[in-house]
Amino acid sequence: MQDPRERFLIRYAGGFAPLVVERAEGAWLETTDGRRILDFTSGQICSTLGHGHPRIVAALRETLDSVVHLNSWMLSEPVLALAERLAALFPEPLDKVILLNTGSEANEVALKLAKLRTGRFEVAGLTRSFHGLLTGIASVNFSMAHAGYGPLLPGSYAIPAPYAYCCPVRHCDGRCDCTCLDVGFELLDQASVGSLAAFIAEPVLSTGGIIVPPDGYFRRVRELCEARGMLLVLDEAQTGFGRLGTMFGFEHEGVAPDVVTVSKTLGGGVPLAATVTSPAIEEDCVAKGFLHITSHVSDPLPAAAGLAVLDVIAEEGLVERARERGDYLIARLLELQAGHEQIGDVRGRGLLVGIELVEDRATKRPANELGAAVTAECLARGLSMNIVRSGSIANCFRLAPPLNVTEEEIDLAVEILDASLRATLGVTPAGAAR
Ligand SMILES: Cc1ncc(COP(=O)(O)O)c(C=O)c1O
Repeated sequence: MQDPRERFLIRYAGGFAPLVVERAEGAWLETTDGRRILDFTSGQICSTLGHGHPRIVAALRETLDSVVHLNSWMLSEPVLALAERLAALFPEPLDKVILLNTGSEANEVALKLAKLRTGRFEVAGLTRSFHGLLTGIASVNFSMAHAGYGPLLPGSYAIPAPYAYCCPVRHCDGRCDCTCLDVGFELLDQASVGSLAAFIAEPVLSTGGIIVPPDGYFRRVRELCEARGMLLVLDEAQTGFGRLGTMFGFEHEGVAPDVVTVSKTLGGGVPLAATVTSPAIEEDCVAKGFLHITSHVSDPLPAAAGLAVLDVIAEEGLVERARERGDYLIARLLELQAGHEQIGDVRGRGLLVGIELVEDRATKRPANELGAAVTAECLARGLSMNIVRSGSIANCFRLAPPLNVTEEEIDLAVEILDASLRATLGVTPAGAAR
């Protein structure tokens, strides 16, 4: 009999994992056939508190008993409270909030605001960026998903990402000096029809291969945007609320954006997103007719989850925890790298960590097939991790466990990864990393 997964579901990402999950708790998944799997992707990088955190569950239960959904012009207490809490977390003047459901949607709203505010339409983003798969935002999604769907939005431009390990402009080696950024903006000026509205970026590019921009990068971005009257939009879908060891990714350089989007990590597994901007931008856009009514804008149920997430992050010190555990994870992976020629680079910030697999360290040729085989082997041995992809290159593991992951869980993940690499490469365990 045909597998029901293949019979009834549209394969939205090629295929499905060879398992069915029955329960998820903390950093662990339990399958229907009784296997336990360590989840180092935090679901889809959303469950930063781990799966099934009792505080989120309790907040949802309580809200289920009071109010789940309303007409979009009616507000509820969780929505008002979450908007106020978010405004307090962001630096001035970022204190106007719209509560949405997905990261793609939050970014669509950010770009709508930027276009209304500036009266322009061109948007630049980074190669290897990922901002969502709805057509508008996918137009500046340069890591994937452009082919086959017809025209994207006119006025969408790519700037080379600060990918120091394999410099896109063949200039730097290991340390980005921002030449890619200056070159990118020169190209942008030449391509533009004089209608530059916004520049959008992730503080650390996640899906594109855990690319960590060098210090000073966003200060330079800010200058380049200001010189052109462009708004700076930061997409904190994965980086917001502690993952990088700071509450927000932009804190690393202290460069606040004009518009910021948060999504995945805000709901802790429940579909919740927000776009946040200044009163000046909000006022101006509303005067120009800003419209974004959706079925679930300002819904109370996800807002209640968001409040619980913010409480737990503060009470359990998860921002600091992510920094410490991230340092520990990177240290353990550097040990692993010493024993495996195919680990070309280990990089990341906080608990967003990448391992780039290469055929050999001299050529740095991407080891795509090895990545796929090791991912499958890890899953079979009880570790869920994924390879992120940019175009045809798919050779970077992303490790993003829940922020409350323990050192023992990190040790176990590294052990499984080591064993999986050895099994896939046919290497005996002698001289294995600790
Ligand atoms: C940085 C970033 N922005 C936006 C999105 C899109 O979010 P969603 O899938 O919730 O639409 C993602 C999803 O992976 C993301 O990583």
